[in-house]
Amino acid sequence: MNILILPGDGIGPEISKQLVKILKTCILYGYNINLIYNYIGGISIDKYNLPLIDNVLKICNESDSIILGCVGGYKWNNYPIKPEEGLLLLRKKLNFFANIRPIKCPFKNIDFLIIRELNGGIYYGKPKGISKQLINSIPTWYSYDTELYNEQEIIRLIKVGFNLSINRKKKITSIDKSNVLNSSKLWKKIVNYVSKQYNNIIVNHLYIDYATIELIKNFKNLDVVITNNIFGDIISDECSLLTGSLGMLPSVSLNNKSLCLFEPCHGSAPDIAGKNIANPIGMLLSLVMMLEYLFNNIYLSNKLFYSIYKVLSYGFCTFDMKKYINNFKLVNTDEFGDLVNYYFYYD
Ligand code: IPM
Ligand code: MN
Repeated sequence: MNILILPGDGIGPEISKQLVKILKTCILYGYNINLIYNYIGGISIDKYNLPLIDNVLKICNESDSIILGCVGGYKWNNYPIKPEEGLLLLRKKLNFFANIRPIKCPFKNIDFLIIRELNGGIYYGKPKGISKQLINSIPTWYSYDTELYNEQEIIRLIKVGFNLSINRKKKITSIDKSNVLNSSKLWKKIVNYVSKQYNNIIVNHLYIDYATIELIKNFKNLDVVITNNIFGDIISDECSLLTGSLGMLPSVSLNNKSLCLFEPCHGSAPDIAGKNIANPIGMLLSLVMMLEYLFNNIYLSNKLFYSIYKVLSYGFCTFDMKKYINNFKLVNTDEFGDLVNYYFYYD
């Protein structure tokens, strides 16, 4: 297997390193893994003046799987091109239209999925821009983005949700803002239409504003949540707090081929980058998903999942988790990775 690693910026390289430790242990378990490294985001801007170059896209396409750390940082704040554009380009060019973000915590009996649309909506909709115009005779800046979705984009995302829900609790929660937005009215209509093709799946619709409450208060009622790009971005950060901290959430993005992109949901945390204190769990849980989806090895996937939670259950954690753990024992990023790797291999 050719696995491409794009560590990116900020804490990306530190957390990617922990994932690589476990991948190397997978080699000991008999897997033939070839690791390739390349650039995306700010580090790519520094090197090529672009956040993602065509050659890296080509390598992405030729690899069996992609692992991405995170992109962005203060350094590029005033650059005309942003590191984040590299990630958006990668998602778009390789058609990663569905982003699955599991919100799962065995300590708290939490287990649901957020399925976020990743190729459309306000992130990509045209027209978008910033211009100057005379308003009341005063030269004034104005800006605009477009929340744009077509039927086909909505259907393919919704179907991912319904198909995943078949082998779960058969409960879909669709989040929109159909009391105001046209794009959401169409979304809701299509959800109801698609649901007719699936027997015994219960569909519930929530407006995004009230959903932010429901996600915290009644998360036990949730199973598969489907939503658009921007709402999915926002609620996944919110839901990370259900499981502990923002550093805990993994994700996988799917396209219409078998290529997958694995990345934690959090950003590059430039304030703590390079200090070896970042929480690597979002990254390690992304590998849990990879062992299931790419390696088709539920045994190793579960083993890694429980190794991570075993380390936490012994009280070991990075600084962001200490308020959630009794008698915590503070460890750094490297030590956390080593502990997980130890239980993954020896237990
Ligand atoms: C995420 C991130 C990205 C997004 C940023 C880095 C562009 O916040 O994956 O949730 O907004 O999609
Ligand atoms: Mn986000």
